[in-house]
Amino acid sequence: MRIGILTAGGDCPGLNAVIRSVVHRAVAGHHDEVIGFEDGFKGLLDGRYRKLDLDAVSGILARGGTILGSARLERDRLREAAENCDELARQYGIDALIPIGGEGTLTAARMLSDAGMPVVGVPKTIDNDISSTDRTFGFDTAVGVATEAIDRLKTTAESHQRVMVVEVMGRHAGWIALESGMAGGAHGICLPERPFDVADLVTMIEERFSRGKKFAVICVAEGAHPAEGSMNYAKGAIDQFGHERFHGIGNTLASELENRLGKEARPVILGHVQRGGTPTAYDRVLATRFGWHAVEAVHRGDFGKMTALNGTDIAMVPLAEAVTHLKTVPANRMDEAESVF
Ligand code: F6P
Repeated sequence: MRIGILTAGGDCPGLNAVIRSVVHRAVAGHHDEVIGFEDGFKGLLDGRYRKLDLDAVSGILARGGTILGSARLERDRLREAAENCDELARQYGIDALIPIGGEGTLTAARMLSDAGMPVVGVPKTIDNDISSTDRTFGFDTAVGVATEAIDRLKTTAESHQRVMVVEVMGRHAGWIALESGMAGGAHGICLPERPFDVADLVTMIEERFSRGKKFAVICVAEGAHPAEGSMNYAKGAIDQFGHERFHGIGNTLASELENRLGKEARPVILGHVQRGGTPTAYDRVLATRFGWHAVEAVHRGDFGKMTALNGTDIAMVPLAEAVTHLKTVPANRMDEAESVF
């Protein structure tokens, strides 16, 4: 068999572990040939690809990013790929395509699959917001980075008696804020799923200071919004990929808290630091398992599906099911987090 693989959308620690695993299972296990398209679907459309053999994936398990490069693609060009998918498969001589990506990529994978291309998707995102899988790789790494940041910020916050507002990634789902906030013992956690009232944060911080605790750390997801009427914060415009351009809730919240409390507050925007660098052991293992199962699905002809973590097992779930809605933080998980601060 000849299998094509690509990584699309925002990158994520563990992508190289999937690529390596696919190549090992396909080449060494099934005597397949694997080609890797560069920069996601762009490489598929523009004819940019290279052969991936065992040497090509040697030493990449622990490396962050993706050796293939990644890019977002406008919807029109994705439609173009779907319309020409028979021709594309013939042109490259591929029997199957394994796209690795988040919601946008898996939606594109579904379009290609519906148009007749043999596709097996692999979900990735540090945001952990893909439905039908308990976890995505990259999330554990991002939570580790954010947790370490909160730990570090607590000591400097305490020295200077400051309020620190840590902004983490998470456009629509606050999983990173929830778990790093819990693990780091943040004093407040603000998620996109539940608009926050800045007056509640002010009361909580004043109460902490009155008990002699002279600092506070608030962990806020980039997509968190204040409750209507609680603070001025405008929604951003939508870019060409359909993403809202945020105005920086971390900065806005820090200056609002500083004004209301009369205490120094500092914003810390973790940004792409959460996505860079080496994946944790957990993410390497999950990514490796996803790669192995994707190749097995190709050989079974189990197309139009993606790999998913179900408890401790890897399952195959229809792409149609996986992309219908995002997996956001449920109310009971928010209640648990709130109970500890
Ligand atoms: O991959 C998802 C994500 O990490 C979001 O949490 C974040 O808003 C976005 O990517 C940032 O993407 P870009 O690399 O385009 O700035």
